[in-house]
Amino acid sequence: MVYERDISNIIWDDEAIQQRIREMAREIERDYKPKLERNGKIEPLILVGLLKGAFLFLADLVRNIEEIPVEVDFVRIASYGEGTTSGELRFIQDLVDPVLNRHILIVEDIVDTGNTLHYLADILSNRGAASTGFCVLIDKSARREKPVGMDYVGFECEEDKFLVGYGLDYAEKYRNLKIIGELDPSAI
Ligand code: PRP
Repeated sequence: MVYERDISNIIWDDEAIQQRIREMAREIERDYKPKLERNGKIEPLILVGLLKGAFLFLADLVRNIEEIPVEVDFVRIASYGEGTTSGELRFIQDLVDPVLNRHILIVEDIVDTGNTLHYLADILSNRGAASTGFCVLIDKSARREKPVGMDYVGFECEEDKFLVGYGLDYAEKYRNLKIIGELDPSAI
């Protein structure tokens, strides 16, 4: 594997990731089944993936949700003046589908400072979503700046490790890895 030497430590392997995603899918089905019922029908849950990092997580998650109807949409959010510390966020790609009165579950690979999810939550609630939930594969709490209430968390990462793989990148590399690991400083 071309990237193997760059990973100093595998934190979650393929099996652990897939097992946890199956569990999260069951939790989501259980929680949303009653919520999605309206006038005797079950409305779809809208899963919104944050690009680019969440693309694998969202794909594996939806493949494991079988008991409730789902729709999929994507957003892409970035900071103004990438590489600066302005921290102001903006949409590069907005949702395609309307959110008014719909149940939305944001699907994110990692929460770090919390700024991205905080920004998105405000916007979706202003647009009149019936509910906005957060499903995060990795909660990296060490660097939190804004409080974010997460509904589903795959794994906790309490230390400030440089994680790559399974959607997470360094300079756009490593997103395709099946595992999540710590990047060796020599690769930076
Ligand atoms: C990463 C990650 C989250 C965001 C979390 O995205 O995928 O979306 O940062 O950071 P925060 O909690 O500090 O706001 P990034 O901006 O690196 O883009 P990418 O998803 O395209 O890799």
